[in-house]
Amino acid sequence: MGNLCGGKKKQTTHLDKVKKELNGIILTDDQLRRHSQEFLKQINLGLAKKTNAEADVKCFPTYVQDLPDGSERGKFLALDLGGTNFRVLVIDLGENFLFRMKSRIYVLPPELTLGTAVQLNDHIAACLSDFIHRHSIASSKLPLGYTFSFPVQQHGLTKGILTNWTKGFNVSGFAGHDVVQLLKDAISRRGDIDIDIVAILNDTTGTLMSCAWRYTNCKVGLIVGTGCNACYVERTENVELFTGDRSKPYMIVNTEMGALGESGGLDYLLTDYDLAVDKTSLYPGKQKGEKMMSGLFLSEVIRRILVDMVEKKLLLNGEMPEKLLHKDAVQTHYMSDIEASKEKGSQKDCERLLKDLGARTVTKQDCEVVAYVCELVAMRSAHLAGSAISTIINKMGFKDVTVGVDGSVYRYHPHYHDYMMSVMTKMIDKGTKFEMVLSNDGSGRGAAIVAAVAAKEHGH
Ligand code: GLC
Repeated sequence: MGNLCGGKKKQTTHLDKVKKELNGIILTDDQLRRHSQEFLKQINLGLAKKTNAEADVKCFPTYVQDLPDGSERGKFLALDLGGTNFRVLVIDLGENFLFRMKSRIYVLPPELTLGTAVQLNDHIAACLSDFIHRHSIASSKLPLGYTFSFPVQQHGLTKGILTNWTKGFNVSGFAGHDVVQLLKDAISRRGDIDIDIVAILNDTTGTLMSCAWRYTNCKVGLIVGTGCNACYVERTENVELFTGDRSKPYMIVNTEMGALGESGGLDYLLTDYDLAVDKTSLYPGKQKGEKMMSGLFLSEVIRRILVDMVEKKLLLNGEMPEKLLHKDAVQTHYMSDIEASKEKGSQKDCERLLKDLGARTVTKQDCEVVAYVCELVAMRSAHLAGSAISTIINKMGFKDVTVGVDGSVYRYHPHYHDYMMSVMTKMIDKGTKFEMVLSNDGSGRGAAIVAAVAAKEHGH
């Protein structure tokens, strides 16, 4: 394998100094190979019953064993909980891959993401009731697919225990409980709606299913957004935690790969910036892989680097803007915005970021440094994602694979896809055809498709 990380930066002495400082963020081929080996090892530990407890990557069975064949039809409700907002949708799957969808975004007050299970579920049930009444579908008792994008140990398609929170949520009374039952309890507390929850799923599963509706060779679902995770199609015989009917040959497995590195297997990659981000996060020591890959954490990595660059007098002439010292002062969208404006030869987003942070004078050189930092951090994330997906594709052994991808980082960063591809073309076994496709609305349409497949299965 050659060098995966070639760059073509304009050389300036100043930028050279910055590059030298940040060299550790650029991953070498060997580091990526080790990353891939570690991921494969952890997947195998996660799949096996007797080692699952010690595995970083839990490889949860999803109980989704049938991929869609495009014939799925009907009207479904979907709930999507997993990020800053909460959505309710009604989706009508029709002929020729046409579908109609109405959705509403409900604000999730931040205090609810740190409150109690009863408060959060009552809020979800209230939004659901509001939606159903607005759309006058209260009498139809539509089947509902619930996209709940956190680590869930499933015991069936409609039963799943939350193992731990991720992505900034920390709601008490949830972990260790059946997520579906908690919502059903909240719905009965209201008593004004009648809902048939037919499936609970992860957003990666929804993404895979949504993509597979069209691309029958879609075997992997990837999210790189607020969080980062992937699911894939595994042989049922390898999914030892699965307790149901083993006659079907395949099952989607939710890797929860964001947790990779929790037992120290990625320590060789961690920079001081990563260590600081981890230490000051809501769950130190947890989701170590995700902290190098997903939007929620990348902006913090960027902020830490910028602070260091100012301290080293490589940025803003050494004048520290006070705001920059505060956690989460850099908003996630800047990473993609800056790259997009750089494409157009503009530094306006770098300037905007530094000015928003309170910098008084911003030079062209400062903007170059900021753009470079953003590029490096995004590239590292994409290279890790590329290595992870290559590992999965090689493990599955299918010769023609489509990867369905969603998430704000992948979607809005102009080069993320290409960065991933540069690694994948080198790491994926020769002779395997693969492509990555932006999967539209996995959490919504995917939930409807999972619900539709489940309904078909049960003869509805
Ligand atoms: C976090 C969650 C995972 C989800 C991912 C993307 O990693 O634990 O379940 O799929 O974020 O939203």
